[in-house]
Amino acid sequence: MAAEHEHRPVLLAEAVEALNVRQSGLYVDGTFGRGGHAAAVLERLGPDGRLWALDRDPQAVAAARDRFGGDARLRVHHGRFAEMADVLDADGVDTVDGILLDLGVSSPQLDDPARGFSFLHEGPLDMRMDTSRGPTARDWLASVDERELVRVLRVYGEERFAKRIARAVVRAREAGELPATTAAFASLVSEAVPYPDRHKHPATRTFQAVRIAVNGELDDLEALLETVCDRLAPGGRLVVISFHSLEDRIVKRFIRGAGEQRDLPPEIPIVPEGLRARLKPVGKVVRASEDETRANPRARSAVMRVAERLP
Ligand SMILES: C[S@@+](CC[C@H](N)C(=O)[O-])C[C@H]1O[C@@H](n2cnc3c(N)ncnc32)[C@H](O)[C@@H]1O
Repeated sequence: MAAEHEHRPVLLAEAVEALNVRQSGLYVDGTFGRGGHAAAVLERLGPDGRLWALDRDPQAVAAARDRFGGDARLRVHHGRFAEMADVLDADGVDTVDGILLDLGVSSPQLDDPARGFSFLHEGPLDMRMDTSRGPTARDWLASVDERELVRVLRVYGEERFAKRIARAVVRAREAGELPATTAAFASLVSEAVPYPDRHKHPATRTFQAVRIAVNGELDDLEALLETVCDRLAPGGRLVVISFHSLEDRIVKRFIRGAGEQRDLPPEIPIVPEGLRARLKPVGKVVRASEDETRANPRARSAVMRVAERLP
């Protein structure tokens, strides 16, 4: 594989350990990427085990078919992980023993200028994980309401100068000069930021925010989590690696919520199935070791949470 197409998996040993892979178990990797985690799961699976690998990026799906095409234990699906339940239904599978999500973008996506994710490389202002559908970042910027853009920049990017940046985008749009490239967009943002962060490119937060919005990343995560309790077998594990505090908050709240048993009046001694706690958290939050972050700076912001389906 060429260096620019490599992706170094984050928290690899920890995530696969947390999945508790059994030889004949059924597992879902909702974010195949370049298959670092998937390969480690396959290594532990016996001939009867199954792994569903999902990714919305056609290049990741092509990589999955290239790398593991001959492996009968693997089912590859192009699409969003929010579609997991449909994918399992199509294969006649009700519940699985583990679901892994390693969120965000992969190195091949970030490093390929043609994908438009990075302000460090000149490329089209695209940012779609799924290049086969949906509006590009430029299309989205061309039509987004100014107030919504301010919200996205503030909430998803924690950008202090959200209003100024949104104004600059709208002004450029009205003048028919909306940037078509990552570099042009990065300089529009840089000019709108009066006091740049000393350690960060002034467009860092904006690029992150626009990417999250264009790909509906948080909506997809919420939609997948809604299906998790129904699709995990008792004892099955959910393992999620997040890179953004908003993602991690969604996962944390979900695990906490599914771990609570609803209050019942004392005259109901047996808790009905629908009101019982469905998940229990396993261990504490896991972060990458110093050695890992030194070798792979992307691991610095990684946070892993694990939960187990209760019987
Ligand atoms: C951080 S990478 C995963 C890397 C992978 N674990 C590995 O070891 O190679 C994230 C991948 O998930 C995909 N992805 C992100 N959000 C997705 C979603 N909602 N549905 C499906 N795939 C998604 C991205 O396209 C990207 O390929």
